[in-house]
Amino acid sequence: MIHRRYPGEYPAKPLRESWFGWSAISVAAAANLVLLVRHAEKAEVAGNDMLAKDPVLSPAGRKRAESVALLLKDANLTAVFSTDYWTGRIPRIPHSFVCDIDHAGFFDMNSSEHRADRSDLVPAMCAAQVIVPCYDLQPTLNFFVERLGFRLDVIFPADRPSTAIVSGNGVTLRLVANSDAPLPNLRLMVDVSALPKDAPRELRAPNGMKIELADANPSIEVPEGKQEFVITRLGGSDVWGTGRAGMEYRDLIPNRLGGRFVASHIRIAKGGPVPDYVHSHRVRFQMIFCKAGWVKVVYEDQGPPFVMHSGDCVLQPPQIRHQVLEASPGLEVIEIGCPAMHETIADYDLLLPNNAFNPDRLFSGQRFVRHVARDAKWSQCRTVGYEARDTGIASATDGLAGVRVVSSSGEHAGAVRHYGELLFLFVLSGGLELRNDDLGRQGLGKDDSCVIPAGIEFELTGHPGSEMLEVALPADQSQL
Ligand SMILES: [Fe+2]
Repeated sequence: MIHRRYPGEYPAKPLRESWFGWSAISVAAAANLVLLVRHAEKAEVAGNDMLAKDPVLSPAGRKRAESVALLLKDANLTAVFSTDYWTGRIPRIPHSFVCDIDHAGFFDMNSSEHRADRSDLVPAMCAAQVIVPCYDLQPTLNFFVERLGFRLDVIFPADRPSTAIVSGNGVTLRLVANSDAPLPNLRLMVDVSALPKDAPRELRAPNGMKIELADANPSIEVPEGKQEFVITRLGGSDVWGTGRAGMEYRDLIPNRLGGRFVASHIRIAKGGPVPDYVHSHRVRFQMIFCKAGWVKVVYEDQGPPFVMHSGDCVLQPPQIRHQVLEASPGLEVIEIGCPAMHETIADYDLLLPNNAFNPDRLFSGQRFVRHVARDAKWSQCRTVGYEARDTGIASATDGLAGVRVVSSSGEHAGAVRHYGELLFLFVLSGGLELRNDDLGRQGLGKDDSCVIPAGIEFELTGHPGSEMLEVALPADQSQL
């Protein structure tokens, strides 16, 4: 038990016994103060030896950990240390709290990276209201309460109301009579199957406000797509752009094949903890291939975090929740998804790793795949002079997509022609040559990629010792 006196503030008391009193202590007033936090609330984990050795926090433990983060949010911490066990880490808390102490290891809280996160305004935030002007308050108030089921929270003045606050469906509206505020639109997410058949999908409130009724669970729209020959060369017209969570993106299919596919070469130059959060993607197909360096990731129902090394690959089934935790300097991955435009959905309620371990779980009919290059078996392709290691994605997607790494001994592969929706090649090492009567001779080097359109024949020759990533949809359209 730790006893400590804070000069001029409190008598010495065990921290554990004075948990709430401790919250009032001005931590910043003490010089070189070191706080020790120990988590004892381990979750019960059955069926997973690794999680049993390194369990996550129980709900009570997580609550306590979040309390610690809350207590320390204004303490001007200079550094945070933690063990490499999950119980030693304080889980992610809302971004408004400045102490980003959910990762293992050491953090310099004075770095510009952390200072940039701090806002003087955020700690003062309590709630949000959207100002909705209306000429006459009562009809608009009635519309929101009676027609849309909102709840009246506040109204004033009592003798002649001019302002009413209503809330519902996760939004609070401040209805203000005779306001010159601009009129907003409102998008309400609804269960379409529960709507009456003839229900309009757009309403007008008495104050003129547009109310759109949108499907809360829309099916994934996959554009029909367009078949085109695409070559993208490293150092060509493509540029690295800054994307989500501080990652740099290079577009490997700039025209997106009519919106059906996106292929990205992603890199994190600096390495270290990745400012990611638990999230999922609304996709039909998505895979990630680690091209260089390593990245630590964690997936829902797939056990503890693991490290993907160069050559490893994962299939991210539709809507599996996951988080990128940490990357080596110089991390590079190739990510391919369908459709090209898809949503990333944050989940602040789930802490990963979760306690369930269910590697056979199906997500929209697909099973999670972790392909480890070191353990992979190479087998002869049907084309002489080519070998491949299959990632298992064809089996896990029931043939929707096939992903292989193909190695060439330098033989001419002969004619390549497919009739699927995608044939994508990325040169991992060495090079290859494509020839076609109309498009001539096209040489691809390391980090170059191409999309071969359906129905058009190419002659393909890999350079000796070359390796390429081949992604085909459907899987049976693999060419080598
Ligand atoms: Fe993701």
